[in-house]
Amino acid sequence: MKEQDGKIFVATINDVPVGLSRVKVDISKKEAWLSAARTAPEHRRKGVATAIAKKCLEYAKQKGARKARLVTSSNNKAARIVLQKLGFVPIAEFVEMTCEKIEMKKSQKSRMGHLQDLEQTWNFLQNSEVFHKSAGLYTVLFRWYSLLPHDLEFFIRNGKAIVYEYENQVQGLLLIDDSTAKAWQENTIQTCYVDGNEETLADMLRFLLTHCYKRDIKRIYGFTCKHNPIIFVMKEFGFKESDDVEIVYEKRL
Ligand SMILES: CC(C)(COP(=O)(O)OP(=O)(O)OC[C@H]1O[C@@H](n2cnc3c(N)ncnc32)[C@H](O)[C@@H]1OP(=O)(O)O)[C@@H](O)C(=O)NCCC(=O)NCCS
Repeated sequence: MKEQDGKIFVATINDVPVGLSRVKVDISKKEAWLSAARTAPEHRRKGVATAIAKKCLEYAKQKGARKARLVTSSNNKAARIVLQKLGFVPIAEFVEMTCEKIEMKKSQKSRMGHLQDLEQTWNFLQNSEVFHKSAGLYTVLFRWYSLLPHDLEFFIRNGKAIVYEYENQVQGLLLIDDSTAKAWQENTIQTCYVDGNEETLADMLRFLLTHCYKRDIKRIYGFTCKHNPIIFVMKEFGFKESDDVEIVYEKRL
């Protein structure tokens, strides 16, 4: 509730809280992120979630956001109907995979990105089918953000961008982050964006696994766009897929 960049809206009936939702606004990107929509079971189907979502959208627009997004699971029928009624549309699908098979592997053409790679990596993304399928988004801790050159630079500067380079061409990108470790006090990392063909991705995963092995990281949360060739390769490296799909919805404000 003390957050500077967002608000929690609560609905009450006769002064009793019956539902809530959270909205955060990223002013620099002019985008808002909604999360944690909950209605008390005994007050569902009374328009509570709809009313709160409308308040969140009003607030986001007032703060300068041009679009609002959120994520819900493919098996959350109730949320998906509410969202559809509110005018949200699904823009991309992601899966969460988990890998605990952390081993040393020999990679050949993968390395941490340098600032000199920025322009080429950005060009690689612009022509990437996966970037398009991801709606240009990356994720950190279950929140999805537009991936802009500024973000890419941030990942590179912080040693969190693995690139695959061949004949002076960037041909693959893997963004990682360790916020999971800080948030959940565990020795883990997550992938925030995964892009490459079967060969380049396999090489980048070998690099990632070795990177984790050397740091005694015990688990990787593999978040990736739902792109079958990527999922196939990740499974070959011991990533286990969860049953449901995370769907990111968007509404223009
Ligand atoms: C999803 C959730 C927040 C919806 O809250 P709610 O206050 O009941 O939603 P609303 O009353 O505003 O629903 C608006 C419309 O959505 C549809 N809807 C909502 N819940 C539905 C359900 N269980 N089945 C089918 N349609 C549903 C209906 O069309 C409804 O309008 P109607 O009742 O006039 O037919 C609530 O079910 C909940 O708290 N679920 C658990 C937490 C959760 O999954 N949160 C969402 C995370 S993204």
